[in-house]
Amino acid sequence: MWNSIALCSVCKPSPNTVSLLLPRLLPLTHIFRRMCKGFSSKRLMQIAQNRACSTLPGRLAGSKAKRSRCAQHYPLLDGRVLSVHRHVFEENFRNSEAVIKRYSELLQVVSKGGGENAILRHTQRNKKLFVRERLKLLLDDESFLELSPLAGLSMPYGDVPAAGCLTGIGKICGIWCVFVANDATVKGGTIYPIGVKKQLRAQEIAMQNRLVSVYLVDSGGAFLPLQSELFPDKLHGGRIFYNEAIISAMKIPQVAVVCGSCVAGGAYVPTMAEEAVIVDKIGTLFLAGPPLVRAATGEYVSPEDLGGATLHSRVSGCSDHFASSEKEAYECVRNIISTLNYEPVPEELVEHDHPLYSSDELLGLAPQDYRCTLPVKLVLSRLLDGSRFQEFKADYGTTLVTGFGHVEGHLVGVVANNGELSHDAALKGSHFVQLCSHRAIPILFFQNTAPHAAEPTSISQAEAQANRLKAQASMMAAVACAAVPKITIVIGGCFGSESYAMCGRSFSPNFLFLWPNARVALVDSRHLSVVPQAGDSGCTDESELKHLKQKLEEESSAFYSSARLWDDGVILPQNTRKVIAQCLQIIEQQKYQVLPPYQYPVMRM
Ligand code: COA
Repeated sequence: MWNSIALCSVCKPSPNTVSLLLPRLLPLTHIFRRMCKGFSSKRLMQIAQNRACSTLPGRLAGSKAKRSRCAQHYPLLDGRVLSVHRHVFEENFRNSEAVIKRYSELLQVVSKGGGENAILRHTQRNKKLFVRERLKLLLDDESFLELSPLAGLSMPYGDVPAAGCLTGIGKICGIWCVFVANDATVKGGTIYPIGVKKQLRAQEIAMQNRLVSVYLVDSGGAFLPLQSELFPDKLHGGRIFYNEAIISAMKIPQVAVVCGSCVAGGAYVPTMAEEAVIVDKIGTLFLAGPPLVRAATGEYVSPEDLGGATLHSRVSGCSDHFASSEKEAYECVRNIISTLNYEPVPEELVEHDHPLYSSDELLGLAPQDYRCTLPVKLVLSRLLDGSRFQEFKADYGTTLVTGFGHVEGHLVGVVANNGELSHDAALKGSHFVQLCSHRAIPILFFQNTAPHAAEPTSISQAEAQANRLKAQASMMAAVACAAVPKITIVIGGCFGSESYAMCGRSFSPNFLFLWPNARVALVDSRHLSVVPQAGDSGCTDESELKHLKQKLEEESSAFYSSARLWDDGVILPQNTRKVIAQCLQIIEQQKYQVLPPYQYPVMRM
């Protein structure tokens, strides 16, 4: 699809034919079923305005209240930081402040998109709204969950702020929706390899959590110099369109706004969406733009005549709604969302207790190094409602803490590293994860895995390691097969194979976030003492070791990980409870859909 320019130049079609080459691909009738039960957008607006972002959806407020009452009997966690831990706490605190400063600087860079000149060109010359302004008009409020804002920074091919498109989850008319919004100030909104990855991840989240998707399309299509890295492979650009078809088959609505250029492959995003809005004078949609038409046919045609709002609304039918301004277009999207026949989540608030200890103290509990790890229950006491925790197998396999608690009223199972994942700890983890799966309780993983396994020095130790391996494999199987929502927060290290059992990225948690102090690598550079070499037990070549350590050090930072989309973003420790609660609300929303959920086995990834 991305090389359709070549196709156009061979066929030499007329301008209108080029536009008409974009057929409406999906029958739309099914999404109008049972519309008569729809809520008015005004009513939904009122509901949205009445609800703060931290409020909870609850089908039966009574039963939620009952659950909260039960939780009041869970034992209290002792979250006091002992004096013996003070110096580690303070060291961690200083490190957290330093990494948070770096995090804020990076966010500052990202917030400027392609830079001041590009923003001026976009807003003054091209008369378009900056992508963040667009989101303000589209979403109910500014409290949205932005995903992977640091993606695309310091890539081998340069900085691509926010990977050239903003993705996240926000509420429209009270309904959580995934949005994918191109930032045309970054190289005309063209899609880089990391941008493809970001859009695919947003679609995966939409599928896994059954969320409405809204695409704000303003893109020059593929970033041509890197075409070989974003066109040919299975998880490259074409996958975005494949996913759109699958998402539609799953009866998850998708809405697009053409608020800029949609050229070549990018033109399929709105045409495959179930409903599309196009903005007059700003939105254009074609497989090949005027310069290529001229080269192919010798005809001069304006972008508006070739594929503007009037043509696509009146002639080709590629768009379903004509909007005379961007503001009108986002209002139109809100109206479309109100026709989806989604039951809005109930308005009742569920009372819940706050943790007894300040979340600001999480900065001192975020380990700057695995060796600076403090007991993980100190972390839990600052995240769970009322600092209450019903622990499971408290005295067995104590290097893993498991049990039940609530986050803003949501019952969750907690699996938290508290040292190395020993044989007993892994067996306990496996048992507990299966309990949660049987009881349909979402699981929170707090990951801080050991940087390396101890070398066995005797046969008995080697046997113990083999047993541990078996137990860890059993936990991995339990985690992979647990059919409940999973959220992973990397609070310290994400190292080696233990990270798989703790629901690392490859185990498909619904969401995975990192604290800025987190380190992600197969091994920790600070624990590396030899350079492994083929056919040799190892060598201690100083310069090689130094080089490898430097490389590992650089590659294991949370920002390096987030730039490559190995996670859904870096979050501040003190915001963790809010983010978890938002994720749980988002995941829970599918209970309120009127249409029955699609059967997951058909989800082909
Ligand atoms: N690949 C690589 N770079 C591209 C690009 C592409 N497909 N499209 C645009 N760019 C670059 C431009 O070279 C420019 O770079 P610069 O800032 O370093 O000079 C930057 O993106 C902005 O482009 P510009 O044309 O100045 O901005 P604009 O707002 O006037 O127009 C587009 C934006 C996307 C409408 C216009 O650039 C365009 O039509 N591009 C070609 C789209 C195309 O044919 N894509 C086919 C992909 S298969």
